[in-house]
Amino acid sequence: MKRNTSFSFILLFSFLLAITSTNVEAREPFACDSRDLNTKNFPFCRTDLRFTDRVNDLIGRLTLQEKVRLLVSGAAAVPRLGIKGYEWWSEALHGVSNVGPGTTFGGEFPGATSFPQVITTAASFNATLWEEIGKVVSDEARAMYNGGQAGLTFWSPNVNILRDPRWGRGQETPGEDPILAGKYAASYVRGLQGTHDGDRLKVAASCKHYTAYDLDNWAGVDRFHFNAKVSKQDIEDTFDIPFRSCVMEGKVASVMCSYNQVNGIPTCADPKLLKGTIRDAWRLNGYIVSDCDSVGVFYDSQHYTSTPEEAAADAIRAGLDLDCGPFLGVHTENAVQRGLVKEAEINSALVNTITVQMRLGMFDGEPSKQRYGNLGPKDVCSPAHQELAVEAARQGVVLLKNHGPVLPLSPRRHRPVAVIGPNSDVTVTMIGNYAGVACGYTTPLQGIGRYTRTIHQPGCENVACRNDALFGGAINAARQSDATILVMGLDQSIEAEFRDRAGLQLPGHQQELISKVAAASKGPTILVLMSGGPVDISFAKNDPKIGAILWVGYPGQGGGAAIADVLFGTHNPGGKLPMTWYPQEYLNNLPMTAMNMRSDPSTKYPGRTYRFYKGPVVYPFGHGMSYTNFIHTIAADAPTIVSVPVGGRHRSNTTTVSSKSIRVTHARCNKLSLSISVDVKNTGSKDGSHTLLVFSTPPVSGGNWAPHKQLVAFEKVGVAAGGVRRVGVKIHVCKYLSVVDTAGVRRIPMGEHSIHIGDVRHSVSLQPHTLGVIKI
Ligand SMILES: *[C@@H]1O[C@H](CO)[C@@H](O)[C@H](O)[C@H]1NC(C)=O
Ligand SMILES: *[C@@H]1O[C@H](CO)[C@@H](O)[C@H](O)[C@H]1NC(C)=O
Repeated sequence: MKRNTSFSFILLFSFLLAITSTNVEAREPFACDSRDLNTKNFPFCRTDLRFTDRVNDLIGRLTLQEKVRLLVSGAAAVPRLGIKGYEWWSEALHGVSNVGPGTTFGGEFPGATSFPQVITTAASFNATLWEEIGKVVSDEARAMYNGGQAGLTFWSPNVNILRDPRWGRGQETPGEDPILAGKYAASYVRGLQGTHDGDRLKVAASCKHYTAYDLDNWAGVDRFHFNAKVSKQDIEDTFDIPFRSCVMEGKVASVMCSYNQVNGIPTCADPKLLKGTIRDAWRLNGYIVSDCDSVGVFYDSQHYTSTPEEAAADAIRAGLDLDCGPFLGVHTENAVQRGLVKEAEINSALVNTITVQMRLGMFDGEPSKQRYGNLGPKDVCSPAHQELAVEAARQGVVLLKNHGPVLPLSPRRHRPVAVIGPNSDVTVTMIGNYAGVACGYTTPLQGIGRYTRTIHQPGCENVACRNDALFGGAINAARQSDATILVMGLDQSIEAEFRDRAGLQLPGHQQELISKVAAASKGPTILVLMSGGPVDISFAKNDPKIGAILWVGYPGQGGGAAIADVLFGTHNPGGKLPMTWYPQEYLNNLPMTAMNMRSDPSTKYPGRTYRFYKGPVVYPFGHGMSYTNFIHTIAADAPTIVSVPVGGRHRSNTTTVSSKSIRVTHARCNKLSLSISVDVKNTGSKDGSHTLLVFSTPPVSGGNWAPHKQLVAFEKVGVAAGGVRRVGVKIHVCKYLSVVDTAGVRRIPMGEHSIHIGDVRHSVSLQPHTLGVIKI
């Protein structure tokens, strides 16, 4: 008995080995294997039919039990129809990641290109770069899928607004501005999903976590229990914007709902959000997935329903198509039997998930014979991909301060250089969270070592920096060197998923180390900060001994090379902060649980983000210097009046038209835009890239709840030393010059809007113009 068992184990083991090794060569088809004579002729396998007919054919063949087992991320096989099991959960936030069980590294795929964390990439303000990264990541993802080591459904990007600076997951996001986040979402998703193949998908992305989710675990409140109380106004003009852009402009194949409740309803059980907004208003062509186990969470932790069957039914009836986790697989059949949800509603969910699988080619037989079927190990971690990771980091570096200027350093004059700090020789710290296994690393110390001789001292054991035991060595190194570079900041032990920060200052004794080393340093001192969220470094900003400060976010696998290229001037920095850097005192009247974006003078609540907070900052949103200077001039032909056509199907209403603002739904918005040309002149002696940030301030008629300024466009341009570039900026009037009133209605304020770029201002007057009135 025993011997037999071990014998069959060995057999089974060699069988598994055989399967695994063939998998590395070419993945077995998920379904519709051309060698399987029983199944390959099913209509759902026929690539000459339309997706809808194929999907309906397949669903018509499934029993209720089979259907229910397809509602979960670990979807079961349907062997009698030749369909294999599928793990839906893979991640690719900034490179193929193994955070989800759908992806594994090893064998022919030991690693994947690990790009900078998203907050760093966002700082580049370069939409071309975002799409380019998406393309590379999806090449690597397809290659790993072909090799049997990844899925095709990736639950990235995270486009929640970085509303509160303490948020542990702020690093994953493109920052605090909704327009920036929306543009990032659409660009990265287009890169991932591919755009040149009709309805077909290269991989399927997912924008998450819908919505008003940006609290993980703060002062005893966690995301599994948090009820975010959000006004209609904030939903419409802040929280919805990146998701709408992701769905409508990025054409994303999926949206994920969050753990938290919004106004008392778990987002994954809210038909107004899922069916009403995502599916009907934005017309999602794809599936809605829960955050992992969030259906279980609203039953078990939030006690939102009294039975698990009701929880399952509520989620499906709200519009949820797929559960990350087992809950729907366990409880949905009983829910149907109790009449809480209809089988037809389950069919609708499956239409959404299976259509995405069809669009991915999963029902087209052998992956190797399909488009992207040729991608393999050679396409992962290729030199070009790794170089793009370094380039992304270069573009994301933000020069916060350069007094003197002390930067760039010179490899000849600055020799040796002291390289100090707990982040000076790190690897995994540079890739942040939701990362994979990197192809390899260049640490800051290694990067700087390519330019000059270094003396290395950690200064603190780790970022917590609990004591000053290692200060002496660091101070000595600074005394002996021609320049001192301190690489400090945070890592995942300080800010992470389920770990929000309590304050904004550097941890432990870091500040003390920086000040002491700067005071002792023979040459200039440069502070390099790694962090996802903003840090209150007022002390360093104000310290004349600290000549320069760089923020590098989490700069990815090649981060050290990029940092060194900026420090030594082979790359001229052009990154800009995608979030406000607040002083610690900002937190005095700011519970993380308070969702309001707008300030409230009666409670001293300061308001959030540059759009609504007017108090002191350490560095503002959009701050970032260069080794050269750029000046802007708005071309003389910029319009000063734009008339907004009102009418169409709405009844002539003198009150509406002559009032101070026009409802967007009453205006003829199509192609109504404001075009201005801006000349950007590089007056310095170095070539550089410059991001034009165009803000608008609405007239007082916008109401006192309007943002005092709003980013309406941004454009990145390279300008040679001494050169000028003309940049055309087009501002869609209804989208960008409108404001949202307290009822959540979007209106275009009439009167003088101020458009500003740096110090340059331009006024444009919006005036109503009645036309095409149909009297009823
Ligand atoms: C016309 O304006 C009045 C006053 O603001 C408002 O009550 C009414 O609903 C408007 N009618 C239409 C058709 O917009
Ligand atoms: C934007 O990124 C792309 C891709 O890396 C790069 O080729 C381009 O030069 C960047 N644009 C500017 C203005 O720096």
